Amino acid sequence: HLVASMEVEETYIMVKPDGIQRGLEHYKDLKTRPFFPKLINYITSGPVVCMAWEGVGAVASARKLIGSTDPLQAEPGTIRGDLAVQTGRNVVHGSDSPENGKREIALWFKEGELCQWSPAQATWLR
Ligand code: PPS
Repeated sequence: HLVASMEVEETYIMVKPDGIQRGLEHYKDLKTRPFFPKLINYITSGPVVCMAWEGVGAVASARKLIGSTDPLQAEPGTIRGDLAVQTGRNVVHGSDSPENGKREIALWFKEGELCQWSPAQATWLR
């Protein structure tokens, strides 16, 4: 409803010099890899949907659900096993460590965009 009532607008977005100089790139650890240019082409080729998940063992459990990097090695029932064919188009990303999880979430979200919620607040379950 909200989208339907909103005007279509154009806006100018610019990464300012400090953004460039600080090298705030999601894949900065992979800068020296031969596939880096292809990876950047891919990840900047269109809009993405971002999620921040929190939970016990969230890094490992998300990666289990996602499956191996190479979709041909990924188990059936995983996202990549079922839906992807090649490494350079492997559909979904999941942080590889809790440290990178924190770093990547900070890169993609502003604090107010994340909801702070705990099961103790779930009054509808009581
Ligand atoms: S490494 O070398 O072990 O650090 O790399 P790996 O963890 O397997 O992959 C890191 C991310 O790079 C992507 N990747 C590739 N993209 C394009 N082409 C090739 N050959 C390639 N190899 C790896 C891979 O999907 C990882 O991205 P994410 O988003 O983490 O899945």
